[in-house]
Amino acid sequence: MKAIVCREFASVDKLAYEELPDPVAKKGEVVVDVKACGVNFPDGLLVQGLYQMKPDFPFIPGSEVAGVISEIGEGVPHLKVGSRVIALCMLGGYAEKVAVPMSHVMPIPDQIPDDEAAALVTAHATAHHALKQRANIQPGETLVVTGAAGGTGLAAVQIGKAMGAKVIAVCSTQEKLDVAKQNGADILINYTENDLKTALKEATGGKGADVVYECVGGDTFHACSRSMGWNGRLLVIGFAGGTIPEFPVNLALVKGYSVVGVFWGSFTQHQPQEFQQNMKELIEWYLKGQVKVIVDQTLPLKQAKDALNKVMGREVKGKMALQP
Ligand SMILES: NC(=O)c1ccc[n+]([C@@H]2O[C@H](COP(=O)([O-])OP(=O)(O)OC[C@H]3O[C@@H](n4cnc5c(N)ncnc54)[C@H](OP(=O)(O)O)[C@@H]3O)[C@@H](O)[C@H]2O)c1
Repeated sequence: MKAIVCREFASVDKLAYEELPDPVAKKGEVVVDVKACGVNFPDGLLVQGLYQMKPDFPFIPGSEVAGVISEIGEGVPHLKVGSRVIALCMLGGYAEKVAVPMSHVMPIPDQIPDDEAAALVTAHATAHHALKQRANIQPGETLVVTGAAGGTGLAAVQIGKAMGAKVIAVCSTQEKLDVAKQNGADILINYTENDLKTALKEATGGKGADVVYECVGGDTFHACSRSMGWNGRLLVIGFAGGTIPEFPVNLALVKGYSVVGVFWGSFTQHQPQEFQQNMKELIEWYLKGQVKVIVDQTLPLKQAKDALNKVMGREVKGKMALQP
């Protein structure tokens, strides 16, 4: 099969498009013939050695795919060859085939196109898990989303609306804010043109935010950490800006709020049944039109470098996808 291979931690331009042996389905696994693979910011960190997980070389990046089951391993009673599925593979998705544990494979309805199905997994499922299990967000609460036109930010805007929140989208350009608005954001803040802390104070009527979905880190995190309301939940999602902030804990004490870590990949391992339940709910919301997958561009697999450079270069609205 053809695949994108990482042989050293280096810039994404060092990734190679190569011929590799096909994977085989071990006990409890299936092989999926990949029809589309979602591209995520952490894929770019992973191949540069900047992610918390450091796989052995050589490895194939790519954590989420949509495709068709072509082989079933021993002890997989409920899946069959020919079924159309989405799969969370953690690694190996940028390829024509990938082997995946059965607990992380779900059949999907025909209505969902391949690229949207692949892109529905990580970004949306992270936002869903964060707002549901980690923030327990309630209807009428205010939700601030930073990097709100990015993959997981835009998903948080949609899912926040689906869960009844008032959504404040924070982006770097008017074009990105327009996308956030089209996806349900109620209030828009351009944080390159405005002081974020002042703008959040005004947008929340001086009360501060109930929930913040913080994807950017650095100064953006600092501004959010000073804009929380009483009983608020500051969700630590990521550091797309490149700086992991340090946090003065007296802020949480004085304002009575919680800082809540979110690691969706670990959640799928620790709580596989809740993960499956969440995915069912997400697919129902998709079918009812309450959440949409905005695919900015779908590129051929061999152009994975271009897709990753676009994601890491802050150019994408929604998600990028690859097709073998
Ligand atoms: N915790 C978890 O389980 C989990 C799961 C998935 C992703 N993540 C993390 O969440 C973050 C966002 O992921 P994503 O897939 O949504 O990424 P994405 O699509 O690239 O979006 C990231 C957004 O961050 C903003 N940003 C600010 N400074 C940036 C910079 N220097 N370079 C790139 N983007 C910058 C951009 O919005 P503006 O231009 O509007 O500022 C961009 O749209 C990443 O840190 C990722 O690792 C965490």
